[in-house]
This record gives sequence, C-alpha cells and structure tokens, in this order.
Amino acid sequence: MKTYNVLLIGSGGREHALAWKMAQSPLLDHLYTVPGNPGTAQYGTNISVDTSDFEKVLGVVNEHDIDIVVVGPEKPLVDGITDFLTGKGVNVFGPTSRAAQLEGSKSFAKEFMQRHNIPTAAYKTFKSSQFDEAFEYIKTENRYPVVLKADGLAGGKGVFICENETEVKKRLRQLSNDEKLKDAASTLVVEEFMQGQEVSVFAICDGEIARVLHNAQDHKRIGEGDTGLNTGGMGAYAPAPLLTPELKNEIEKSIIQPTIDGMKADGNPYLGILYAGLMITEEGPKVVEYNCRFGDPECQVILPPLKSDLLDLILAATGSSLKNEIIQLTNRYYCSVVLASGGYPSSYEKGFEITGISDIDKKSLVFHSGTANKDGKLVTDGGRVLNVVGNGEKLQDAIDHAYKNVKRITFKNSYYRSDIGKKGLKTLES
Ligand code: AMP
Ligand code: GLY
Repeated sequence: MKTYNVLLIGSGGREHALAWKMAQSPLLDHLYTVPGNPGTAQYGTNISVDTSDFEKVLGVVNEHDIDIVVVGPEKPLVDGITDFLTGKGVNVFGPTSRAAQLEGSKSFAKEFMQRHNIPTAAYKTFKSSQFDEAFEYIKTENRYPVVLKADGLAGGKGVFICENETEVKKRLRQLSNDEKLKDAASTLVVEEFMQGQEVSVFAICDGEIARVLHNAQDHKRIGEGDTGLNTGGMGAYAPAPLLTPELKNEIEKSIIQPTIDGMKADGNPYLGILYAGLMITEEGPKVVEYNCRFGDPECQVILPPLKSDLLDLILAATGSSLKNEIIQLTNRYYCSVVLASGGYPSSYEKGFEITGISDIDKKSLVFHSGTANKDGKLVTDGGRVLNVVGNGEKLQDAIDHAYKNVKRITFKNSYYRSDIGKKGLKTLES
C-alpha cells in the first residue's frame, strides 16, 4: 500500500486534532507540521517556518518529499497558498484563493448566495465612501437589530449587531477609523438580523460533490450565557440535537450541495472543507457565513466521532473521487471545553506552567492550542491554551466527562466557561 508524507499547516487546537486524526491512518507515512505546537509534535515533526512565506513552505515540501499539503487556517488559503503550491505541482487540500473568497469577502459570499438562491439574510453593500448613505438607508428601513459586517477577514471582530440608530452611528465610525478594521471594512455589508439558533455544518468537498462530515455548536462569547466579548470560540459540542434528520437533509439539499454546484458553475470549483455557519430560523435554515476550513474548537468535537479515515477522505477529495466515499460516525456526543488565559480575548499573561494533563482519564482527549515547551516544562503561550474533550452516550454525559477532566488541569489565571453544551441540553428538554 502506498503511504503518504503529509504537511499540515497551522498551530492551533484544530491542527492538533487534525494531526491526531490523520496519525490514525494506515495511509500516513510521516506527518510534518508548520509551525505546529507541542500537541502536533506528538504525531510527527514540527518545522518552524513562517506560513505566510509560501516559498519557504515550498522548500519544506521539496526537502521532505511531501505528497499532500493540508491547510488548517483561513489566512493562508485566502492569501493563495493553494494557488501557489498547486502551481508548483504540489497536491493541496484546501480551496484556491478565489474559492476561499466565500470566507474572505462577505460581499462575495452574499452575491454568490443571491445568484444561486441559497437561503441567507437580506442585505445591501456600501463602499467605505458611502457610509453616510448606509446610515440613511438603515434609518429609513428602521428595523432593529441590524447587522453591520466588514467585508474582509477581521478575526471575528468585524461584525456588529446594532440595537438602535446611536449604535449604528458609533459602529460606522469605528469601522471607518479603527486601524485594525479599516481595510476589512472598505466594503460594508448591512444585513437583516436573523432570529434562531446557530449550528455549524462541516462538509468535505472535491469540487463536484460535498459529503457532510458532522455538525456542531460553538460558544463564541467569553462569558457564561453567551455574554461579553467575542472570542475564537470557548467550547463546542457535537452533534447539535436541534438538527433532526429532516433538517440535516434540507441543509444538504438547499445549502451544502447548491454551494458546491454554484461554485462549479461559476468556474470556481470548491475543494476542501466547507464550514457553513447556519441560523435555524422559523423559515428554515439560512446561511450566516461561510468559512473555508474547519472551525476551531469545532474540529476538536467533529473528528473524534468520525470513524472514517480522514486522510483517505482528503486524498479522495484531491483525487475527485469523493462520490465513492461514505462518512461513518459514532453515535456518541462530544463536548470540548477551552481552557484560556485569564484576560483573553483582551490582554493576558503567558508563560505559566501547565500541570495535570497526565491525570486526565484515558477516554478523554486534550488538544493543545496555545502551549509551548520551555526549560523542559509545558507552559501557556496563547489566549486559548488547551481543549479538553469529553464524550458520552448522552450529551449530559459528554459535558460531565469534559468538566471532570478540565478540573484536573491547572495553570495560573486559567479561565473556562462552565456552561458549554447547555444550549443543547435545553433543546433536548424542549
Ligand atoms: P459572522 O462573522 O458572519 O459569523 O458573524 C459573527 C456572529 O454574528 C455570528 O456567529 C452570529 O452570532 C452573528 N450574526 C452574524 N450575522 C447575523 C445575522 N444576519 N443575524 C443574526 N446574527 C448574526
Ligand atoms: N470557532 C469559530 C471559527 O473557527 O471560526
């Protein structure tokens, strides 16, 4: 059997989960990760390379005889790593820069959905020179809350839900003046607010067809009960009980496959992971946003229940043969709790020793996000530090399992939300 040298790009909890899963494949020869983290290092070799320097990444590919590159985060995809490497004859799992515009430009995504009748919120776009017009439009419409979105990548900080005119004014000013938002906000999307519960659906795509892997619910805010600042995600669970078999079917038929068909029809075939952020509204599921990669921390609860060989699926996607693949999942629930540095997502200290990882029980999993090895010790090295994943037959069991193990891990100023998965329990009760 041929085996493959894989180069994984990224350094978060998502990439640790990807490394963990691919390492289980008999198809794997050796795993290299750039730059990786102490978690990915358990399954292969980390190589310290700046992933925005595509020539250097190509150097790693050539030096280590890489058969396939798997890209974790959105930034290199939107910046064109797939285009660059495939141009050099390298096999890459991840969309081209143009296809990654589904995440890289919200106005691109909205126009795309409108053109292909994919359900989403009503919207209007304005250039940054037209913010006065945007304000007049919102004032005339007089429908609150209203959603303001910077067009480009803004690390989750470019979306504002405004309750009134005063807030709209304030956010428009922020979008035109804030140095970190200005570029992303050169175009503004004004969107209708959708009421409902959010669910993320993940599909693997080969340009022609999509196979849904699984679904999950993220917890984006820092505080209990979804309060406080937005973060990269403080925990996730899978699957979301909200998604009945009928709803899953509807999502596949009205959103996932039409997205892949639409991209193909536009001459922009989509190969990679499609992450559809959905709102389950009274009128049915609608797209909140597309992302062009796995979610973090959703990946950490999507991959453990996946019985299928991920590397085999990835190779099938790049070989245009996904139609021959079946996705197999366990019927257990998984819950991931993020242990973060106190102060995140604002300022926080790093470098604190982490203890207790070896005390967690064998059926739980720990994925590293922001950790480092220093003087023979594992220390904190980021805002989100670790993900502890529990599982169980029932959602409550998975939640209890995760928290039992979270409590065994300690570092100074650690913080976690204690209500991950509660939304799912509420749905089950109703
Ligand atoms: P996005 O970056 O587009 O995912 O937006 C961030 C978050 O803002 C989403 O996860 C939703 O919670 C919320 N959001 C974005 N757009 C809408 C909308 N049209 N209606 C309601 N909530 C939204
Ligand atoms: N957890 C949200 C994201 O990965 O975008």
